[in-house]
Amino acid sequence: MGKNKLERFEENLTFPNLFQVSYEFLQQNTFHLRGKWNTDFFKNDNPIVLELGCGKGEYTVNLAKKYPNKNFIGIDIKGARLWRGCKTSNEDKMTNVAFLRTRIQLIEQFFAQNEVSEIWITFPDPQLKKPNKRLTCERFLSYYKNIAKTNTVIHLKTDSYELYDYTLNEVIPQGNYKVLFNTDDLYSSDFQDDVKSVRTFYEQMFLNEGKKITYLQFLLN
Ligand SMILES: C[S@@+](CC[C@H](N)C(=O)[O-])C[C@H]1O[C@@H](n2cnc3c(N)ncnc32)[C@H](O)[C@@H]1O
Repeated sequence: MGKNKLERFEENLTFPNLFQVSYEFLQQNTFHLRGKWNTDFFKNDNPIVLELGCGKGEYTVNLAKKYPNKNFIGIDIKGARLWRGCKTSNEDKMTNVAFLRTRIQLIEQFFAQNEVSEIWITFPDPQLKKPNKRLTCERFLSYYKNIAKTNTVIHLKTDSYELYDYTLNEVIPQGNYKVLFNTDDLYSSDFQDDVKSVRTFYEQMFLNEGKKITYLQFLLN
């Protein structure tokens, strides 16, 4: 393992807004903030927004700066990537940001029913050969339904036309979800919003390669 990575793992242990809990711990214990993120961590009643597979947490940090009346939690399994968002949010003394290092499959162990108000899924691995590992497959949507308020908005931003098409034309009709917006070429569309103003690390790589970016916004009813 690279020295840089080890140093980041060490520093991760010092961030008060990063939570890392092992699978074994969750087998025996309830995560202490489950159902209590507002009262015990953020200490306000503001809505909670998740960024799933957040990597360096660009959406988490940038949206938190733009919307101080919302709380943002970035989730990823890779600690060295999460370090970036943790570092920035701590240096900037942001009080509406947290990060969770875990597998998204375990999300119900970290949030209670109706605790989440909005979900961003930013450039997830498209999992072309493993549909039931896609972050927008019905299995994952059912996890999100167990923690989200009715009609929570899901944002999917991806360079993968296959994942976009699968979500739009298979998952959404089967689940009878309501599409609010969709485009297979975001930067040629007239959609103006946080969707265009924040670019993630992977998004910038894909744009440099000349790839089109797709965007889909739908309601988790
Ligand atoms: C292609 S990267 C995108 C990162 C970031 N959203 C971006 O746009 O720069 C996908 C990220 O999802 C994370 N990831 C994939 N599957 C996951 C899972 N089941 N649970 C937690 N994180 C996951 C990976 O660790 C990785 O950081």
